[in-house]
Amino acid sequence: MSDAPAPAPSDLFDKVVNLCKRRGFVFPSAEIYGGFRSTYDYGPVGVLLLRNVKDAWWRSMVQLRHDVVGLDAAILSPPAIWEASGHLKNFTDPLVDCKVCRERFRLDRLDDPEVCPNCGSKHSFTEARQFNLMFKTYAGPVEGAGAEVYLRPETAQGMFTNFKNVLETSRKRPPFGIAQIGKSFRNEITPGNFVFRTREFEQMEMEYFVPPDESPRWYEYWCAERLAWYRDLGIPEHLLRLRAHDEDELSHYSVGTSDVEFLFPWGWDELEGIANRTDYDLRQHAAHSGERLEYFDQAAGERYVPHVIEPAAGATRTAMAFLMAAYDEEAVAREGQGKGEVRTVLRFHHRIAPYKVAVLPLSKKPELSAPATEVLALLQPHYMCDYDETQAIGRRYRRQDELGTPFCVTIDFDTLDDHAVTVRDRDTMAQDRVPIAGLLDHLRARLDA
Ligand code: GAP
Repeated sequence: MSDAPAPAPSDLFDKVVNLCKRRGFVFPSAEIYGGFRSTYDYGPVGVLLLRNVKDAWWRSMVQLRHDVVGLDAAILSPPAIWEASGHLKNFTDPLVDCKVCRERFRLDRLDDPEVCPNCGSKHSFTEARQFNLMFKTYAGPVEGAGAEVYLRPETAQGMFTNFKNVLETSRKRPPFGIAQIGKSFRNEITPGNFVFRTREFEQMEMEYFVPPDESPRWYEYWCAERLAWYRDLGIPEHLLRLRAHDEDELSHYSVGTSDVEFLFPWGWDELEGIANRTDYDLRQHAAHSGERLEYFDQAAGERYVPHVIEPAAGATRTAMAFLMAAYDEEAVAREGQGKGEVRTVLRFHHRIAPYKVAVLPLSKKPELSAPATEVLALLQPHYMCDYDETQAIGRRYRRQDELGTPFCVTIDFDTLDDHAVTVRDRDTMAQDRVPIAGLLDHLRARLDA
């Protein structure tokens, strides 16, 4: 991805949403029934993109570290957890209704709290009501008191309720972290901006347990680490910033939070929050459950409740930021025909790109299908590959550009004699002739760097 700040097209948002539908990244959910309230399904390439975002996070937060372990906790959870965490009481947004047009809004997100942004009426709002964002349902056949359960609104509480289990089984000691990726659910009053704010979404969260006096240092450390993660995966510097929360923005559990923000088409908005949650959660769960949630430092002969630094990112929201940052249009000569056209290309970092390689026999003739499927079989154990044998090769290159595929491998009639293929680079469109025997090494040198 180029570092030079190229101006984003003014209709970038619509273009990306359109491309997502056209190329199979994201579909409106239940579309054959008219769609379902800001919910989305990830299509054949969207599921790869999302998986790559999550894999890149897991690699950086768990695989490449010795001090973080993973967890996959249940989504359905008893009220006791949310009573202790404070979510039953505090996880609310102020809701107002316009008495004229009957639209609902989050009061704290209105540009002018006196004016309805839908119908323009002044002083038409009802008194604000605190609306709890958690989805409630019932476990078992009988609805009612005692059967209520909640869909988790954050993955974090699974890490706190399993703190003792992990401490006892993993042989880790503070500073150490527990990481988790999974779905969370919030009954958002105003979902919107495509997959930016939805009621069902995926989070990537890590709770890092530290000795209390070390928490300021680790907070700074994780702010820097997390900002670098986005940069290292190709989001240009000018589209990223770190912003510290004002006092009145802090969640009920936090004494300090900084957001990694991305410059979306509507302005700067949050990708991830890094919070200093202190010992709030462990103390709350200890008090409510009666379990001792502490660490005994044998060397110092000291018992303490660790403090927690939490980098909490959204996987689906981050996938959207990668799409926005990768989108590019450039005027090019039509490949093979010399006629001008605009090509749309997603300049994803290789690690994020849904397919790494597309295998494209020049024609559907069986003489080419046979070597092409051999090339595919050579590459598939190593890389996610697409295979496409219909349409003119120029149109197939354009399709792969729109999917963000870094390399296209073309098998032509010369391949039958020289046992070589053409490797086309997505970003430069340069083509190299590469012997099939050296193809894997050629791609490895470029994709695994
Ligand atoms: N455990 C802390 C926590 O959940 P948060 O700032 O509420 O903190 C963390 O959420 C991240 O989860 C956000 O930065 C965002 O990327 C993602 N997220 C939160 N609500 C979301 C929603 N309604 N739709 C999509 N992503 C959301």
